[in-house]
Amino acid sequence: MTSARDALKREAAMTAVAMVEDGMVVGLGTGSTAAFAIEGLIDRVRDGLRIVAIPTSERSAKQARDGGIELTDFAHQIKIDLTIDGADEITQGSLDLIKGLGGALLREKIVAAVSERLIIIADEPKLVSRLGGTVAVPVETVPFGWETTAARLTKLGARPVLRKVRDGTAFRTDGGNLILDCNFGVIANPGQLEQDLSATIGVVETGLFIGMATTALVATPTGILRLDR
Ligand code: A5P
Repeated sequence: MTSARDALKREAAMTAVAMVEDGMVVGLGTGSTAAFAIEGLIDRVRDGLRIVAIPTSERSAKQARDGGIELTDFAHQIKIDLTIDGADEITQGSLDLIKGLGGALLREKIVAAVSERLIIIADEPKLVSRLGGTVAVPVETVPFGWETTAARLTKLGARPVLRKVRDGTAFRTDGGNLILDCNFGVIANPGQLEQDLSATIGVVETGLFIGMATTALVATPTGILRLDR
């Protein structure tokens, strides 16, 4: 059974999928909302759309490959025309984001950084006035000495929690790293925090995406809200 939230996520995803044109290099996001977009792209490819795609996770790569989307990589394409991805929080004016609850933040940021347009798809509860109020900031960390990285992050004001999977072992990203979910509460200056986190020894990447999204398509019960930066 489709939940009301899933229906909204799908609607946002389909609006983004309609923006994809023949010949584009497309970045494929990760997460439940991005999975709806990949589903929609698979349908369009079956109807004759010609694209190549770069996925942001093994999960999304499998879904796309199984559905018949041609995948490529950065050895062949250095620029992406349009990326469709989800987010965990989106700020209304700046379109700054928290991403990474699905654990794919590193590849997502690498893909976002070379995307001419980054289209974020989400349902309404993810739209916030300030980042950090509803979710922690995921921080990808090298496994070696992660406890020392966590101690440094605590000094920046976080309460880092090592992400674990159901059996109690540490969650591993596609790159084999760990994630420390860092609750900072409402973040006064996300740009500064992103710089401070990135400068911390042991940190590989953060889930703060500042100034990267070009458009957010937010599905509300009364229709799609389009926000452009
Ligand atoms: C994946 O690492 C994340 O950045 C997702 O894009 C984000 O967590 C949104 O996921 P959902 O669409 O499942 O809410």
